[in-house]
Amino acid sequence: MSAPKKLFIKTYGCQMNVYDSERMAEAMGADGYTLTEDQSEADMVLLNTCHIREKASEKLYSDLGRLKPLKAEKPDLKIGVAGCVAQAEGGEIIRRMPLVDLVVGPQSYHRLPAMARGEAPSVETEFPAEDKFDHLPPRATRRAPTAFLTVQEGCDKFCAFCVVPYTRGAEISRPVARIMAEARDLTARGVREITLLGQNVNGWHGAGEDGREWGFGRLIRALAEIDGLERIRYTTSHPNDMSDDLIAAHGTEPKLMPYLHLPVQSGSDRVLKAMNRKHNAAEYLRLIERIREARPDIMLTSDFIVGFPGETEQDHRDTLRLIEEVGFGTAFSFKYSPRPGTPAAERAEIDSDIADARLQEVQALLSAQQRAAQESMVGRRLSVLFEKKGRTEGQMIGKTGYLHSCFVDGPQLSPGDLREVEITHSAPNSLAGRLVA
Ligand code: SAH
Ligand code: SF4
Ligand code: F3S
Repeated sequence: MSAPKKLFIKTYGCQMNVYDSERMAEAMGADGYTLTEDQSEADMVLLNTCHIREKASEKLYSDLGRLKPLKAEKPDLKIGVAGCVAQAEGGEIIRRMPLVDLVVGPQSYHRLPAMARGEAPSVETEFPAEDKFDHLPPRATRRAPTAFLTVQEGCDKFCAFCVVPYTRGAEISRPVARIMAEARDLTARGVREITLLGQNVNGWHGAGEDGREWGFGRLIRALAEIDGLERIRYTTSHPNDMSDDLIAAHGTEPKLMPYLHLPVQSGSDRVLKAMNRKHNAAEYLRLIERIREARPDIMLTSDFIVGFPGETEQDHRDTLRLIEEVGFGTAFSFKYSPRPGTPAAERAEIDSDIADARLQEVQALLSAQQRAAQESMVGRRLSVLFEKKGRTEGQMIGKTGYLHSCFVDGPQLSPGDLREVEITHSAPNSLAGRLVA
């Protein structure tokens, strides 16, 4: 018998890529590959790429450049490019970097083992009619207490700046039965918290177990009935897909964590319109109000793009005002990056230094809000899902419902335990607490 082959995967970008990388590793596992963390001993290197901003895309080419000596040393080494750059650039990647053996887009991962065996074309970037997940092997054995589960893929929103509708294709929802089966299976393997994933996860819909059309809120309530599954999260959502039923679920479903990532991108109506976001600032604020009525202790997070084409000083101040009005637990903010093929890439960019300065201002405000939100946890009693041992003897680390890391002294605890903790201290990147008897 030949020695098992080794697969090294590097994952860039969003959580959907993290999930896809796991599924690709499982698919290759069926072909005799085991994962390695050491690139130099790999028989195959797979780069699962992100195309969202220019910097993210460029990383692929610098990483490929760095693989040249390894490929020279090991001519049999297979190098594969997966993910959103693979989808966007296809065979162009091999022309530019001939050391690449195969290019596989996000909807074709079930083809990967055949491609690696040389039994399928070396470039697969079609959007096939079948669901790739139907053709991928079931999830692997031992699990951490938390897991991702992709329920929806693709995007039909076409925000003017964004490549996702082109790299991930049209919105598709996975069927209820598949999602329920995967969630039950994960829970049976020790998973206590599932994060449902999708580029527009709250746009998920499908025929339910009762034969009726279900929305995303209904799906969450069905998942919440699974014994042993203690926590449910979801990301990323579009404001326009926050249905009444989903908002209500935040108030009635204790397993749904009091945490919501709801990107708004800008606080200026002019910019939101130019971005083709299909909501204005007032609508977003009203939505936040309704979500907080359903779940007063919810923590909100968001994404912002700063320096979008045409953004004025007034638009920028509108964004700062929206941030002040909402009060976010944390948020990501990015300098606008023109992406090939998107409508906004045709428009004149604003001065780069001005955009940098605005980004700093937005980030300073968001950081202050983040610190305040974390410090406000001191004195509260929160449930913590423990994930692993800490660095000091007897210490355990877990996460609160708000996704803050929390340390306690708990030598008796195991990963997967959920305990009530009184928060005693807030450090820059974590909380400390003591177990409530
Ligand atoms: N589906 C999600 C996330 C999309 S990508 C949503 O609708 O919000 C994650 C974030 O990247 C976006 O929310 C946006 O803030 C940022 N982003 C997307 N395209 C970008 C671009 N061209 N330049 C800068 N940031 C961008
Ligand atoms: Fe991109 Fe907009 Fe779709 Fe989000 S909703 S993935 S930002 S096009
Ligand atoms: Fe990046 Fe594709 Fe995710 S572009 S953010 S990896 S959907």
